[in-house]
Amino acid sequence: MSDEQWKSEEPNENSLRSKTFFQEKDLWGFIHRSFTKSMGYTEEDLTKPLIGICNTYSELNKCHSHFNELADYVKRGVWQAGGVPMEFPTISIGEPYVKPTSMLLRNLMAMDTEEMMKAHPIDGVVLMGGCDKTVPAQLMAAASANIPAIVITGGPMLNGRLGGRSLGACTDCYGFTLEHKAGNLTDEELATAENAICRSDGHCMVMGTASTMASIAEAIGMALPGNAAIPAPDSRRKHMAERTGKQIVELVRQNIRPRDIMTMEAIENAIRVTMASGGSTNAIIHLVAIAGRLGLKLPLETFDTISATTPFILNLRPSGEYQMEEYFEAGGVPALMKELEANLHLDCLTVTGRTIGDNLGAASARTLNRDVIRTVEEPLDPQGGIAVLRGNLAPDGALIKQTAVSAHLKKHTGRAVVFENPADLAARIDDPDLDVDADCVLVLKNAGPKGAPAMPEIGQIPIPTKLLKQGVRDMVRISDARISGTSYGALIVHVAPEAAIGGPLALVQDGDEIELDIADRRLNLNVSEAELAERRKAWQAPAPFYDRGYGLLFQERVLQANQGCDFDFLLPPHMR
Ligand code: FES
Ligand code: MG
Repeated sequence: MSDEQWKSEEPNENSLRSKTFFQEKDLWGFIHRSFTKSMGYTEEDLTKPLIGICNTYSELNKCHSHFNELADYVKRGVWQAGGVPMEFPTISIGEPYVKPTSMLLRNLMAMDTEEMMKAHPIDGVVLMGGCDKTVPAQLMAAASANIPAIVITGGPMLNGRLGGRSLGACTDCYGFTLEHKAGNLTDEELATAENAICRSDGHCMVMGTASTMASIAEAIGMALPGNAAIPAPDSRRKHMAERTGKQIVELVRQNIRPRDIMTMEAIENAIRVTMASGGSTNAIIHLVAIAGRLGLKLPLETFDTISATTPFILNLRPSGEYQMEEYFEAGGVPALMKELEANLHLDCLTVTGRTIGDNLGAASARTLNRDVIRTVEEPLDPQGGIAVLRGNLAPDGALIKQTAVSAHLKKHTGRAVVFENPADLAARIDDPDLDVDADCVLVLKNAGPKGAPAMPEIGQIPIPTKLLKQGVRDMVRISDARISGTSYGALIVHVAPEAAIGGPLALVQDGDEIELDIADRRLNLNVSEAELAERRKAWQAPAPFYDRGYGLLFQERVLQANQGCDFDFLLPPHMR
């Protein structure tokens, strides 16, 4: 292999990439063959498509703890189709443990995955993801590497069960801890709930970020139809893994690549599915990042336009009633997409080698439970889940998951109660002397991409305990942070530009009047321009968090929320 080929970022269009490693009779060809054969692969194996299986198994990532078994089924499919599977690791990001926030590592995982794909003799890759940041990281990598790729996710957990109730992680995690904090649950009852809520392998089983991104992988055409909703322990996920392994070999043979699949139309399909599903606000950041890698600009307005023309029809928590297990039984993403068919781009190519329209022609693409998947004629809400707000408080946009907002707060004006940063919030939110009532607007600054850092999921600002005890369960809350896909309430997040770079959010003071009107898509700080200009003069940027390492790289190069929080240098040159 020549130096030029080593350096080449673009895969060779005409032959298998692996052949350039294994066919030459020179020193490197000798070494590649010899070292590969030492692992038990034969001469014949070296002539077949080499399929990388990106297995993100990790005991530090609960949502991927079953991946070794699942990878075996993927391998089975690869062998059956005449390919040769080779498993490889990348970093694996599990929401519950990673500090300061998993978002810090998404771009690192995307870089790791892309470089692993490009550096090795891989003709195609099966991307095994699941927990929130992993699927977006892998799709970003696939977009950049543009080597044939297919996604299989680990699947959601089974529903939690307690006293006849169906529990969802982590939507009900908030409820249990909130009621415990309010004094309505004992420690023992809390422990019982902990044991009951997560009772199987898999990722969170509400329509949180993991389920949203699994649905997106399917809707955008990068996972086989039906993949997203199959519960992790269900035997049909093993069948899906085997089919996925077979199909990647077919994609290599047909030379179908991620950029053939992930077009702007495919992204629009994914957005429509997200809006119809009440999907996570995190999906917006991730889709903008994926689009950026593809060289496509994706303004927030696209989300709002599609949201406004997409009825919310999937009755899943946190916005609805059911969970992924019922979604699976009701037909999953193919059934939902069938309901939306009239408004989808049907000619988008998918990893089946056929179009979305072809895939939706399958008999299995139909709804089996009308309470779970509604029709567009009788939706749960005539509009999609996410609204994009603008105004002098968020010139570059902010998001609210309107389907999860209490009705009385959809149009609201209130007095700001300001917290300068997450530490200030933690120190004062439960202070009995905090001057706050149910009509106030809680404002958290410096929790954005550069500010916190890495935009943690703390936009679900806790209701002050003294108000909780009065029965208050929702308030308008504003921040430049993110929220978990499983959150609910009147939470305005992703305010851009963020406070840490001097966005208007940085200028809000206690007592200012803030006006929210979701129907009008408005978020305003009712303070005069002159006064804001005065405050801007006095503003000082917060001290940076990092002085070395990856954290410093992140802090210096991360883009704002409305730009997808990717690193600027990971975008194609013409996008910078
Ligand atoms: Fe992994 Fe929720 S913790 S999906
Ligand atoms: Mg999450």
